[in-house]
Amino acid sequence: MSDFVSSFWSYFISAIALGGIVWCVWLLFSQRAWLKKTVAQAEDTGHVWDGDLTELNNPVPRWWTVMYLLLCAFALAYLWLYPGLGTYKGWLGFSSADQVRSEQAALAERIRPVYERYTQMPIDQIASDAEARAIGQRLFLNSCAQCHGSDARGGPSFPNLTDADWLHGGEPEQIEQSIAKGRHGLMPPWKGTISPSEASDIAQYVRSLSGLAADALRVVPGKRGFDTYCVACHGAEGKGNPMLGAPNLTDNVWLHGSSEASIVNIILNGKENVMPAQERNLTPEQIRLLTAWVWGLSRQGGAAQASR
Ligand code: HEC
Ligand code: HEC
Repeated sequence: MSDFVSSFWSYFISAIALGGIVWCVWLLFSQRAWLKKTVAQAEDTGHVWDGDLTELNNPVPRWWTVMYLLLCAFALAYLWLYPGLGTYKGWLGFSSADQVRSEQAALAERIRPVYERYTQMPIDQIASDAEARAIGQRLFLNSCAQCHGSDARGGPSFPNLTDADWLHGGEPEQIEQSIAKGRHGLMPPWKGTISPSEASDIAQYVRSLSGLAADALRVVPGKRGFDTYCVACHGAEGKGNPMLGAPNLTDNVWLHGSSEASIVNIILNGKENVMPAQERNLTPEQIRLLTAWVWGLSRQGGAAQASR
């Protein structure tokens, strides 16, 4: 109800709801003379079928009148107790959002014992606990697989979580931070500062860092460009910086593609890549199990583990 921008709709709804009940009561009241009649006094409507079948205007039975009034009273009581009249919150203060919240709290309370075992357990022990891994994988399939893939191996722009290559660091604390708070990878665009031909020289140099085929003549000016523009984040040797989420460019692991065209594109247009924070959807205990699961995947080479 608080979505209304003016109080008009609140009054409008209240008027329709209350007006409807008043109209129902008035309708009954306006028929009181007829309702008082007994069956013996009933009028003949004058309609006759099959020669002797006459239609009488009998008043409705008493129980029907009583039920009708009770229903009107019920409606009034309901509107008094529960939110139904515009912005009026109801005497009981009930709200379906509160109900959902309390059900969620009750559920969290029910599953708390399952997670309790792990609150004090070190991450490496959780990572090798079969039950914790099963829970971790289920949580991953529910909350993470849509982006990182059901085998956690990622895809274009979504990092592979099973390898030892990390944008933001692979220690448990860093992984936990990535999951709970999310990450915002930001590579600035260089269009205007770096010309397209300079960018492709730099791209050749970047490819050479991973041992990919590169034009030796262009690698030399490319390195000059890299040393000027890129080392601040990717480091003098191109090994990246987890504090900035700047990837290691020497390990032949590519988030956004290794072709000259895709590297030039990133240099000129930059890249913004967001991992949404999960702490609002998951409890700290769930994040802890996920951290251990992801950490365990990357430590054990991943694939076999992930498909289990
Ligand atoms: C909406 C898509 C999306 C979802 C859902 C998502 N992630 Fe991510 N995640 C990303 C992206 C994109 C990045 C890379 C951010 C960047 O480029 O800096 C990322 C990065 C990460 C990282 C850091 C990787 C590194 O190399 O440092 C971890 C760990 C991670 N995600 C785990 C998870 C887990 C666990 C879940 C489920 C609870 C999850 N993610 C859900 C998109 C997602
Ligand atoms: C301000 C810091 C910063 C600077 C300066 C910077 N980068 Fe980046 N770069 C990043 C970040 C952060 C990412 C990761 C973006 C993401 O999360 O997807 C990135 C990603 C990349 C990638 C994609 C890697 C992959 O795995 O696909 C390439 C290639 C790259 N940068 C090259 C360069 C080059 C070449 C320069 C110099 C012209 C440069 N960067 C300058 C921060 C920087």
